Amino acid sequence: MSDGPKGLANGLTNYGDNDFSLYLRRSFASAMGYSREIMDQPVVGICSSPSNYNACHRAMPELVEAVKRGVLAAGGLPMDFPTISLGETFLNPTSLMYRNLMSMDVEEMIRAQPMDAVVVIGGCDKTLPAQLMGAANADVPVISLITGPMMTSPLDGERLGACTDCRRFWAKYRAGEVDAAGIKRIEGRLATTAGTCAVMGTASTMACITETLGMALPGTAAIPAVHADRLRAAEYSGRRAFELAVAPAADQLLPRQIMTPKSVENALRVLLAVGGSTNAIVHLTAIAGRLGIKIDLDRLNVLSDETPVLIDLKPTGEFYMEDLFAAGGLGTILRELKPLLHLDCQTVTGQTLGERLADEHPYVDRRVVRPMDDPIYAQGGLVALFGNLAPRGAILKRSAADPSLFEGEGRAVVFSSLDDLARRIDDPDLDLQANDYLVLQNAGPSAPAAMPEAGYLPIPRKLAEAGVKDMVRISDARMSGTAYGTIVLHVSPDAAAGGPLGLVRDGDRIRLSVAERRIELLVDAAELERRQAAMGPSIKPSPLRGYQKLYYDQILQADEGCDFDFLKAAD
Ligand code: FES
Repeated sequence: MSDGPKGLANGLTNYGDNDFSLYLRRSFASAMGYSREIMDQPVVGICSSPSNYNACHRAMPELVEAVKRGVLAAGGLPMDFPTISLGETFLNPTSLMYRNLMSMDVEEMIRAQPMDAVVVIGGCDKTLPAQLMGAANADVPVISLITGPMMTSPLDGERLGACTDCRRFWAKYRAGEVDAAGIKRIEGRLATTAGTCAVMGTASTMACITETLGMALPGTAAIPAVHADRLRAAEYSGRRAFELAVAPAADQLLPRQIMTPKSVENALRVLLAVGGSTNAIVHLTAIAGRLGIKIDLDRLNVLSDETPVLIDLKPTGEFYMEDLFAAGGLGTILRELKPLLHLDCQTVTGQTLGERLADEHPYVDRRVVRPMDDPIYAQGGLVALFGNLAPRGAILKRSAADPSLFEGEGRAVVFSSLDDLARRIDDPDLDLQANDYLVLQNAGPSAPAAMPEAGYLPIPRKLAEAGVKDMVRISDARMSGTAYGTIVLHVSPDAAAGGPLGLVRDGDRIRLSVAERRIELLVDAAELERRQAAMGPSIKPSPLRGYQKLYYDQILQADEGCDFDFLKAAD
């Protein structure tokens, strides 16, 4: 715990003479044009990640300026610094591979540079989790500022917004319902403003989780990226960070005092109530893991049975994030969930969650946010499955799935890798029926593909053209938060790590029971043992060096948040 702001004198560079170190630091700070007076003020760091490779962060420079305004108005010295940026659609093999790298960047730069508090600005899918993971063990107060969702865009009388509509129209294109000229026109209208995906995808889910945890200012999760309120949220975040920087030690809230087992459970409730992204369970597990808090998938199932889906947002419903903002924001959902939440959790404002909710304006648009006694879906959006196919669990987003496929048995049609999938999925000669179960192997965290969002296997073209809209699909991959379907994901351990998913062969029978939370490969144990013995060594890209080597040496499975072992809290 800090014993008061030290400003630029925090964490001096080691030259063996502290007075010399401070003198040298101030002389270089002078080169930035700072006066000696402002150099003596408490410092609020501003951690940002604008990049031409990250359209979701396009408005970030403006947010940085607004945070600075808040810090300056309060009497502090704002100092912004960059970290790597993770633009979801620009990274190969997948942004998840680099989430842990960004978290290390954030953690080390907060620790190594002089600051008394910090505002971390993030938005695109992996950036908010990376920042919370990196900030978890910070010894200074941290406020998370969310970039906010993009606005929808009209096309032919219809509203479009990334990325559920991206997938919907791509499915139509594959089924022959949209032609090449049409899909090109749609491509230009899916993402038309700064900000994160317009639906309750991973970015928006993580925004709701961040606000629920208490790490962001109340009411800020859903403000559109281009709305003036977003700039005001930035200014207030800067001002509040300064207040925390100068607070007496007893009042100085650190991330580990805000992100606790209770606030993590609140965040899980909200994840379930917003029908949020399956990715968020991986990220929340990783964030909690940095603080020694374990998320138990059996506990997720208990919470899921108690927590209804309350909002009608895409990918499962009708509306977009801008509609949630207009409907009253995340507070509307928190107020509905109040009887289920731990209200004594601290937030960055210094209020408890309960105090915050008592202060809120009661407006809510019931078309978008339903009451507890008239929910969209009586149970939570996500459910964990276990069985001999997924000994350490798998995730199904039941709110985005077809209930008629929840109980049953199917014949496995197996794709051994993403390349195999791409090569054969549309083969007209592929032996395939609509009630088969599609299985994708070697797309988990240990595989060369590094757990891409490939779990949304396309409906094979010949079935799509025949009108098939959904099939049971099973993999160790992830799925975009904007996708939908009866899709079993995150099968752990993954095939590349020697998990049973790698033992499935064409024609095997698989049993799925969502009611029983089971997923079973109906092959006898002796045959599975024989297949296991015949398996070669696990597949890893080679040669390995640098960060990729670190990744493949250290990556943990999905049930441990795909974090690196050495970054988790020490036992
Ligand atoms: Fe950045 Fe969807 S691509 S949030």
